[in-house]
Amino acid sequence: MFHLPKVTLRELRITDAEERYQWCLDEEVIKYLNMPEKYPPFSRDETKNWIEMCIKKTNGYEQRAILDQDGVHIGWVDLKNFDRLNKHAELGIAIGDKRYWGKGYGLSAMREMLDYGFTYFDLNKIWLRVEVDNEKAISSYKRMGYVEEGILRQDRLRKGVFVDRLRMSILREEFNRMKRGMAE
Ligand SMILES: CC(C)(COP(=O)(O)OP(=O)(O)OC[C@H]1O[C@@H](n2cnc3c(N)ncnc32)[C@H](O)[C@@H]1OP(=O)(O)O)[C@@H](O)C(=O)NCCC(=O)NCCS
Repeated sequence: MFHLPKVTLRELRITDAEERYQWCLDEEVIKYLNMPEKYPPFSRDETKNWIEMCIKKTNGYEQRAILDQDGVHIGWVDLKNFDRLNKHAELGIAIGDKRYWGKGYGLSAMREMLDYGFTYFDLNKIWLRVEVDNEKAISSYKRMGYVEEGILRQDRLRKGVFVDRLRMSILREEFNRMKRGMAE
């Protein structure tokens, strides 16, 4: 396994809103993200409101900013749809700054969030939904150790077309095995 770049996850700040807004203007970044069917998907004010809800934790999201080794804000990662009874939750991730794509930052941020989810939130399974043609993301998830659970038919309405999504998950025991093989 290769060396992953070091990332830090931190609580969101209201000042993150402008970068988030700019990233969401990029069609390539948002193509596979579950966002409203309009462009831009969110106004500056809506973005600010969303970040505020994440900070106050009124929307059920545990969302964190991803920072690179120099503290540069490069994206976000979250856990949501917590099922406390059955100990699972859904993960979402985006590296908003495209210059950071394909260098291991996504994997590194995911690893941090999975670790947090399995230890701090005591989850047993962390799942996700990914559009079937988002090959880059699917390959990252497989590399992380995610396993396919099944196809969710016509699960996302994307630009007027219903697209299937793949549901994948990783169990705590699988993550712990994977983590031991991933060097810093
Ligand atoms: C999907 C996404 C989060 C993946 O993050 P990423 O940082 O681009 O990708 P990864 O960290 O997984 O790294 C992927 C590639 O980098 C390579 N890599 C990993 N660590 C590396 C390192 N230290 N040095 C060099 N390359 C490295 C991997 O081999 C992999 O290459 P491959 O795709 O050819 O197998 C990101 O592309 C993204 O934000 N996309 C837009 C939003 C989105 O689609 N989100 C997911 C919705 S379900």
